[in-house]
Amino acid sequence: MNILVVGAGGQIGAELIPHLQGLYGQDNIIATDLKAENVERLKESSRALVLDALDLESYKEIISKYKINRIYNLAALLSAVGETKPQIAWQINMGALVNALELAREYKCSIFTPSSIGVFGHSTPQDNTPQDTVMRPNTIYGVCKVSGELLSDYYFSRFGVDARSVRFPGIISNGCLPGGGTTDYAVEVFYEILKTQKYSCPIPANTYMDMLYMPDAIKACTDLMDCDPSKLRHRNSFNITAMSFSPTQLFAQIKKHVPNAEFSFNPDPVKTEISASWPNSMDDSCAREEWGWNPSWDLESMTKDMLEKIALKLS
Ligand code: SER
Repeated sequence: MNILVVGAGGQIGAELIPHLQGLYGQDNIIATDLKAENVERLKESSRALVLDALDLESYKEIISKYKINRIYNLAALLSAVGETKPQIAWQINMGALVNALELAREYKCSIFTPSSIGVFGHSTPQDNTPQDTVMRPNTIYGVCKVSGELLSDYYFSRFGVDARSVRFPGIISNGCLPGGGTTDYAVEVFYEILKTQKYSCPIPANTYMDMLYMPDAIKACTDLMDCDPSKLRHRNSFNITAMSFSPTQLFAQIKKHVPNAEFSFNPDPVKTEISASWPNSMDDSCAREEWGWNPSWDLESMTKDMLEKIALKLS
């Protein structure tokens, strides 16, 4: 198995790369990113190259040269930053996917592209959101993710491309920082509390969103791709979640470990609108039934681990 990770310099790639190396061998994983400084960092522990995922010819050269047979297409702008430059978000998020799917077709690669809770909108049932339901998002990020799900399923049914995907909720991690997402508060808060004991939250206090801790997110990326495809009734894309909480609940949990932590709220209008349109909690039973999704981390264990790991990082 030779695996290409595109957009490897981001929050997911940073932790997916070592996991893939452990499973398939160090030399079989090629990490790429648009930014040279990210590639320099990746080179410290992996085979890494600069790649603009919109440049089809360079992309093709890499797939052919390294005999790639699986692509992790992680290149994308997140939801909040997408609203500041919607045309560019469409160009990057869809452009990278279209190239990845075309090359997967030509070179017979399997392909994983993260989808997101961003596919849902105000008209979606908000509680226990079903796997198959209304998807009318009101962000460009969500529009790209719905289009991407449809296009990936089309490539599967029309050309037999083995495309699979999960709808990630907010991913909480202590490695590379997320950037430009609506759920980023649930990562930022740990750094701010450990640095200054204070945090001003851009999301309203009682807004519930689904979340995952990174080790579960990474496991989803490989478990889904390695599962027996004959069991899959869905492909693009599966609801997955491990916990649903509001800022109030997360902060109460943090306060148990950092009693002098102070929290305030200063809602950002764009993030407030986006977070209100996303589910409070998703039903992930199809992922559990079809490929054995079963997360290990909950709010309590994640909070404790995040505080320990980030305290070490900052020390
Ligand atoms: N974490 C993403 C965001 O907030 C959602 O998939 O944009």
